[in-house]
Amino acid sequence: MVGFTGAPALTQKSPAQSTWKAPRLALVNLDPKGQVLVEQKALELQLPVVSNQEGQDFDLLLVWTGERWQLQSRSGSPGPVSAEYVQGPQGYRRRAGGGRGQAVARAVGLKPGRPSPAVLDLTGGLGRDAFLLASLGCRMTVLERDPVVHLLLQDGFRRASEQPELDWIPERVDLHLAEAKAWLAEALSPVPDVVYLDPMHPPRGKSALVKKEMQLLQRLVGSDADSAELLQRALRLPIPRVVVKLPLRATPLAQGVDTELRGKTTRFDLYFP
Ligand SMILES: C[S@@+](CC[C@H](N)C(=O)[O-])C[C@H]1O[C@@H](n2cnc3c(N)ncnc32)[C@H](O)[C@@H]1O
Repeated sequence: MVGFTGAPALTQKSPAQSTWKAPRLALVNLDPKGQVLVEQKALELQLPVVSNQEGQDFDLLLVWTGERWQLQSRSGSPGPVSAEYVQGPQGYRRRAGGGRGQAVARAVGLKPGRPSPAVLDLTGGLGRDAFLLASLGCRMTVLERDPVVHLLLQDGFRRASEQPELDWIPERVDLHLAEAKAWLAEALSPVPDVVYLDPMHPPRGKSALVKKEMQLLQRLVGSDADSAELLQRALRLPIPRVVVKLPLRATPLAQGVDTELRGKTTRFDLYFP
């Protein structure tokens, strides 16, 4: 089920994020019928609702358009970002196929003729990997600790599941607003076949800032400086496969990588604890 669970303001930042400064964030409503919804979200997120003009005093705006939630900077550049699985690159990626041959699919161990694994995605983000894996049949439990990113994710899955060809989303995607370290401390039921991590990395020159989604997300949540600790916790669990997605040349988050899969810009480190 795509649901709202947990309380807002779960984000725990690591002190190691020295250069990152929490952005000033506000909600903007562009929908004449959206006032109640936006005020309710403002209450949940403990953020102000402002007019477009007042938005100039904030770093990032979470905008309700009447159709979707989107995150944008006050200058409008980079352009608005939302979780989008029907149109754009995600929709194309799914329709164009490549399916189980894609690196992320191979990383979680999808094999032709074998049941698709149950995957616990500890770092939901904009849900692109989770959506792709779900579209290939994986049962996904997706965690996201930042309440604003969680809202974008929830909204993306909601819109996508309105498409008849994507009506499997509620069955395969179980989304939670949760801190993954706390989640892993609880008894996992059912126990997943795979744990998946794709932490946010500090920007490294222009190459890491190519995608506008990542620029804005990075601005919102900073870099996940506690990801090595998260991986250590995952590796202690009785889960046969742990996958970490990293920039191609990044240092592994933990020693003892069993296999790696390399793409053009990313690498998947696989651990078989
Ligand atoms: C790089 S993004 C993930 C992108 C995602 N794989 C996708 O395909 O869109 C990392 C996300 O993980 C979240 N995150 C990082 N550490 C987390 C933790 N310990 N618990 C829950 N969420 C976490 C961050 O808030 C951020 O939104």
